Amino acid sequence: MQKDLVSIQEVTVEDLRRIFEIATKMKSERPSYPLKHLQGKSIGLIFSKSSTRTRVSFEVGIRELGGASIFLDQADLQLGRGETIADTAQVLSRYLHAVIIRTHEHAELVEFAKFSTIPVINALTNMFHPCQILTDLFTMNEYSEKLEGVKMAYLGDCANNTSNSLILAAKLSGFDLVLSSPEEYAPSKAMMDYSGPGNGSVAWEPDPFKAVKGADYIYTDVWVSMGYEKETAKRKKALMPYQVSREIVESAKSNVKIMHCLPAKRGEEISDEVIDGHSSIVFDQAENRLHVQKAILALLLDENCP
Ligand code: CP
Ligand code: NVA
Repeated sequence: MQKDLVSIQEVTVEDLRRIFEIATKMKSERPSYPLKHLQGKSIGLIFSKSSTRTRVSFEVGIRELGGASIFLDQADLQLGRGETIADTAQVLSRYLHAVIIRTHEHAELVEFAKFSTIPVINALTNMFHPCQILTDLFTMNEYSEKLEGVKMAYLGDCANNTSNSLILAAKLSGFDLVLSSPEEYAPSKAMMDYSGPGNGSVAWEPDPFKAVKGADYIYTDVWVSMGYEKETAKRKKALMPYQVSREIVESAKSNVKIMHCLPAKRGEEISDEVIDGHSSIVFDQAENRLHVQKAILALLLDENCP
């Protein structure tokens, strides 16, 4: 893998194969004692947004790999008082072995990675959420035993970190993606025009019922991502027709699986009966964050990783 995981654009087909292989092993052999991949290493987590899954799965994963994690709220650092990203990155590179960052502007993460000499992992920016989507690929591969030719319909805000990363992931791994939203929340041209190494097709379809036809997976995410709370009323009104409801699920394949990165706003982007129903695999997705992120950490930080 490259030094940093900033977005799925840096992930190669071979990286993905290795992540799947190591995560499968880590999942089946989850030890009661720490592994040695991160022995003697300290990993910083700098978060300026809330998190349940990402923070806890990374901290537990680091411990299970034999390393130590240091959680840093951005506001507690001198960054919050105006120290530059460049200076912070250079200083932390002298203490830590990697940094995991959750922030607002993607450009801040890119800047940090530019000045840091240690790996930087994107734990979510407004633009991308690669750890989530690599996990989703792993989860789909567990269920379908392949990604090429598998169809996913994504309903809701098609211009957020999750949908942007799914577009890159389809173009990397070869699954077919149809995104469905009103025009205002359609994917950006830059995302649609991106060309990756895989053969996955990416299309936008404003009619959610057409979008889910023949889908093996239906994926949704909150309509109001962190940082966009001022737009709540407007977004709820525009996106209500894109709720993953029983009617939507019944319009897809009979064995369709329902995905959500969580946290969910039940009754908004997804109904209770769908998220709690037999087709839902949302908690498998959440669990797999741990196994996949352990694989990513081992690949980035253990030069002897088999
Ligand atoms: N899916 C996800 O990243 O969840 P958290 O915001 O709880 O970390
Ligand atoms: N799009 C969501 C993802 C949360 C994991 C957000 O950014 O809030």
